[in-house]
Amino acid sequence: MGCSALSTKQERRFPDDFLFGTATAAYQIEGGWNADDKGESIWDHLTHNNPTVIKDLSNGDITADTYNNYKRDVEMMRELGLDAYRFSLSWSRILPNGLTNKVSEAGFAFYNNYIDEMVKYGITPMVTLYHWDLPQKLQDLGGLANPLFPEWYEDYARVVFEQFGDRVKHWITFNEPREICYEGYDAGRNAPQVNATGIGSYLCAKNLVMAHARAYHAYKNDFAPSQGGVCGITICVNWVAPLTDSEEDRFEAELSRQGQWGLYAEPIFSEEGGFPKELSERVAQRSIEQGYPRSRMPEFTDEEKAFVKGAADFFGVNHYTTFLISATEKFSEHAFSDFETENHYLDEWPKSASDWLNLAPNSVLNALTHLKEKYNNPVIYITENGWSTRHDAGLIDDDRIRYYRAALENVLDALDAGVNLKGYMAWSLMDNFEWFAGYTERFGLYEVDFEDPARTRTPKKSAFVYKQIIKKRVIDH
Ligand code: NOJ
Repeated sequence: MGCSALSTKQERRFPDDFLFGTATAAYQIEGGWNADDKGESIWDHLTHNNPTVIKDLSNGDITADTYNNYKRDVEMMRELGLDAYRFSLSWSRILPNGLTNKVSEAGFAFYNNYIDEMVKYGITPMVTLYHWDLPQKLQDLGGLANPLFPEWYEDYARVVFEQFGDRVKHWITFNEPREICYEGYDAGRNAPQVNATGIGSYLCAKNLVMAHARAYHAYKNDFAPSQGGVCGITICVNWVAPLTDSEEDRFEAELSRQGQWGLYAEPIFSEEGGFPKELSERVAQRSIEQGYPRSRMPEFTDEEKAFVKGAADFFGVNHYTTFLISATEKFSEHAFSDFETENHYLDEWPKSASDWLNLAPNSVLNALTHLKEKYNNPVIYITENGWSTRHDAGLIDDDRIRYYRAALENVLDALDAGVNLKGYMAWSLMDNFEWFAGYTERFGLYEVDFEDPARTRTPKKSAFVYKQIIKKRVIDH
């Protein structure tokens, strides 16, 4: 506008078409784990069969009970004045066995009602197809490690595009591949808790990327021409900085970035395609040292590379924090698997209720400008960003407000720097089941009373602040 040099930070505005929203995921909010003909998912299975892995021995059987409270959820979206709402579909609610030989009419009805209610009030639905809750029946066959997984996933995706694509124009195939593949198929932490050190995660990574590309091409070829939407993938891009400026630390930080998100982003968004080079070399070398006859990391054929490369309309970014990496640490192929025992943070960074989540300066900005440079300025949506407080922290959540203001200042900085950023989804609309932390860590803008059968929702102070920011399109200080 010619006068930006005169405007102060406080006066900077978010573009009118910038989508402000919040995000959630099916297992974390829905409940109704066996309602109607819903099938069992791997998180139902894990929490029922191995309950002690969850800090407070809880599970997502009922959680915020969105299955029965979805109208109240949409009312909250309206109270906040959201432009968009990101949520995920439970695969086993739609296809109880995971495969298309049985579809659930009750599952369709639930999501149709939910989506209709949003659309009725002008809220743009942004739908994640997979947020960690695989149908258990597919897990019994190996889940994401089965070579047929990309086929099963495409079949599911087609059902979903067909059913909801008239109203849903923003699709996200997977949420956080590292947490699915490394935590689920290697470290044995996330469901399905497979412990296949050094092998499971790479098998899963290749299958996941191929499944993503199959769904993307199915959408672009057979649905987008008439439905007119976009399809991307959400990857957790926490910022990874070298502890010092030494060449060794900088190289190790780059390897760490490749392990954390490059493994999934590079095949889709890079010029070269395929898995990241330095990481592949390091894993190949280690595999030989460990006595394997070949690298533990599979490769893409040229045909597969071409199929996957460019297969996304946008890069969904989940961003929470910054980690510091130094070359003196034991190399972790997937970055920070050992972060609980290592000091990857500076003491002066404010701490949340989660041991991995701190408020580091310019965390959002560093991650976004890096992606802009590395992947030729892709369209980006921040699909998650948020702060945890303890379960008993109450409604006055000033530390969450400080975090959101800092993050949104960085969003404005990123827009100024030319990052092609189209929207921002706060995690989360309401308190929910935080995986291994159960209900001990809370991320919501709304508090949920989990003792109350009605699961009453009450806005926290941060909800009022976010509402003002959305309404005025400026950050109020
Ligand atoms: C990212 C995950 O997608 C979400 O499920 C989780 O609750 C948040 N991080 C907070 O840990």
